This record gives sequence, C-alpha cells and structure tokens, in this order.
Amino acid sequence: MSFPPGPRLPRLVQAARLTAEPYAWMTKRRERYGDIFSSSFPFFGRIVYVTDPELAKQVFSGSAEVFHAGEANATVLGDALGENSLLTLDEGRHLSQRKLLLPPFHGQSVRRYAEVMAEVAARHVEEWPLGEPFALRPRMQAITLDVILRAVFGVREGERMDLFRERIPPLGELSTPLDWFSFMQRDLGGLSPAARFRKAQAKVDELIYAEIADRRAALDANGSRDDVLSLLLAARHEDGSPMTDVELRDELVTLLMAGHETTATGLSWAFERLLRNPPVLERLLGSLDDDEYLDAVVKETLRVRPVVADVARVLKQPIVLAGYPLPAGTLVLAGITAVHMRPDLYPEPHEFRPERFLDGGAESYSWIPFGGGVRRCIGASFAQVEMRVVLREVLGRVTLRAPSPRPERPKVKHVTVVPARDCRVMVVERLAPAPRSEPGELEQVGGRTAELV
Ligand code: HEM
Repeated sequence: MSFPPGPRLPRLVQAARLTAEPYAWMTKRRERYGDIFSSSFPFFGRIVYVTDPELAKQVFSGSAEVFHAGEANATVLGDALGENSLLTLDEGRHLSQRKLLLPPFHGQSVRRYAEVMAEVAARHVEEWPLGEPFALRPRMQAITLDVILRAVFGVREGERMDLFRERIPPLGELSTPLDWFSFMQRDLGGLSPAARFRKAQAKVDELIYAEIADRRAALDANGSRDDVLSLLLAARHEDGSPMTDVELRDELVTLLMAGHETTATGLSWAFERLLRNPPVLERLLGSLDDDEYLDAVVKETLRVRPVVADVARVLKQPIVLAGYPLPAGTLVLAGITAVHMRPDLYPEPHEFRPERFLDGGAESYSWIPFGGGVRRCIGASFAQVEMRVVLREVLGRVTLRAPSPRPERPKVKHVTVVPARDCRVMVVERLAPAPRSEPGELEQVGGRTAELV
C-alpha cells in the first residue's frame, strides 16, 4: 500500500512544527508535496491531507457510510458532548438529529436573532476601557456567549443567566489537547484536568436541565418563544416522538461548544486584520451600512484566517483517492487553510482583500471555513450574521487602534487557531452610534451564501 508522499520526520517533530505554524505548515507541505500528502502525528498516526477543491469535494460529498466525521470528531472532542451530539454521531442517527436541528439555523430563520446580537454587542462595548490596551478575544467570547444563551438557549436576564456566565467560561480553559490521551482521562482523586472538567461540566448541565424543565412547563402554558430551544422542544422525530431531555442537553452543549468560541475567534481575527490593513478599515468605516462590503470582510477574514484549519473523516472502507489506494481506518483531512492559500484560486493569497468576494462569492469548494457536505456547519449563517452585526456595532461605537503594528501570529488553541496575543486593541474614542439597520437587510446577504445541505 503506498500512501501519498509526505515528510518523513519523527511524529513529535511534525506535531511541534504544526503547532508552531498552524497555517504555514500546511501551505508549505502543499507547495512541496502537491494536492494530496501524508503526515504522521502522535496519537493520530498517519493522516492524509487533501488541499485541492476537487479532492475536498470528493471527501465532503462522499458517502456518509464511508466517510465518518462523527468518529473523527469524537477523538478530539471527547465525551463532554454526550452520545446524542450532532458533532460526534454518524450515518442514520446523525441525519435524524441534523433534521431536527437544521430548521432554526436556516438562513431565513437566523434573521430573527440579528436584533438580539446587536443589543448584546452594544451593551458590552459600553464597558470596554478607554485609552488602555486590552485583549479583545475574551470580550468577543463574552458577547458570543450572551448571544448563544439568549438566541439559542432562550435564557432571560436573571440569576440563572448570571450563573451560566460564571460557569461556562472555565470549561474552555480546562480542556486542552492533552485530554486526547486516555491517561489524562483518569480521575486522580478529582484532581486531574479531566476530573475538574467533568465537575465544571456537571455544574453547567445542572443549569441546562433546570432551563429545559422550566421551558417545557412554559411551553404547556404558552408556546410562543422563538429561540432555538423552544423550536427544538416543539420538533418531532420521524416517528412523532419529541426530543428527550438528554438529547436536548447534548445538542445545547454541542451548539455552545461549536458556536461560541469559534465565532468569537472569527471576530477577533476580523479586527486583527482590519487594524493591520488601514485602507480596508477605512473603506469599511465609510460603508458600514453597505452589507455587501461587510459580508466580503467576513468572508475574507474566514479565508485568510480560518478558525478551524482542517476537518477530518475516518474511512470505514478502503477507497482510492487521487489514484492512491487508502485502507479503512485512514484519517482523511480536508486542509481548509491550504485550499484558501492557493494562488491559483486567490492571487496573492496572503493579502487581506475583501474585494475578492464582491460581485459573487467563491466557488463552493474553494471557500470552506465551515466544512462541507452533510456535515457542513449548521451555524454558518448564524455565525456570519453575528460577525456582520458585531463588526457594525463595534466600529460604529468606538474607534479602535492596535497597540502594535505587528500582525499577531496564529496559535493553536484546542481545535481552533487564535491570534497569539488574543487580538490586543485600544479604544481611542467613543462615537455617537448611528441608527441600526433592519435585520431584514442583513439577512439578504446571509441568504446568498450557498447552503450545501
Ligand atoms: C465562525 C464561526 C464558526 C466556524 C468557523 C465553524 C466551523 C465549523 C466547521 C469547520 C465544522 C465541521 C464541518 C465538517 O466537518 O465538514 C462545523 C460543524 C458544526 N458547527 Fe460550526 N462553526 C462556526 C460557528 C458555529 C455556530 C455559531 C454554531 C451553532 C450555534 C455551530 C454549530 C456547529 C455544529 C452543530 C456542527 C456539526 C455539524 C454536523 O456534524 O452535522 N458552528 N463548524
């Protein structure tokens, strides 16, 4: 069996290089070995990367029985998500959960959340310090967490909301890539990181189950709320049965884990790039009401700084890919970063040029920050609307500067790539906010994005 070519360095060295340069590593391997290459890492063993849109299409649109995404995701996301999670299921059970979750996240449906997103962002920006540098990413996380709690969980301001805000952020800090190794899963008298994570998770679960119970009771009294949890409470499986509390808990935790830090990181990269590219920032500031340019800024950010650098599938049967026979069990990854950095698709790919996305978007498999096929991110429209709304609110309310002109280097943080200094910024001036645009206008742009499923 001959695998595609690739570096022969020891696994640890390859992992160290990937961690040191998450974007450049993959792009350089593509330049050296071509559209398909192999690499080996501790824990994961041999991995095959594809870096060409046509091959990415084959991986994304391949049979769900052959390409298992859930099994691949489970290796890095562990058991925190539960056994009903959309992210870690495959085949029939995945499809049936996906059918229940998709409707509230459809382009048309997310428009209703734009107003909540704007309100949340406006309230947070008021609290930012004036004239002193601070890290923007935690501030973006606070915004995206409030948005998920309000728009997805439907929690209202009050004691439980405060407890959610207190208990969720430590979860992100307690999980590290080391948790992938089974010895890190031991309890060690409650002192191991995994044990502390499980304890913190249980305290969040307690709040989630209390919210589900309250909302089931409220649904019986009047069923007129439009957050995602309310819609899921009303959803039915094909046999007519409602989702159980455990299913609801698993999907809410999944949406929280998949949707909160990712969007905050995408926003942080948008500000990091805008503050290093004054002509782009100037054009955006001059056209904050132009949804098309705002949308192009979001798309270009996710192209040049993809939050998730690659997505994985485990092969359940042998296949032939680009002429290479690959055995069952092989981990095949679509290299998002490497596709986005191809000069044949994006001339001068390292330049931050939103204009690339004006007058029509990219071809489906050339722009893949949200993955693809039956596993494409269900929050893609939600995240893009949120990024546009938050960018508009922030830039309309404060003038930001970067304390240093040096670009922030990419750093691996669990399964995402974040700005190494968490996007340092300084508010130099507060502005009188312009009136908000109607959510309907924002939606038109979101609706243009190709939904693959
Ligand atoms: C900029 C923000 C985001 C990025 C970059 C992102 C990226 C991704 C990627 C790359 C995948 C894997 C796709 C694949 O395997 O082909 C994914 C899956 C997923 N995302 Fe997102 N995501 C973002 C925001 C969100 C939001 C806001 C939500 C929900 C509130 C969300 C929920 C999910 C779920 C549930 C899945 C699993 C889909 C499935 O396996 O069927 N994501 N996302």
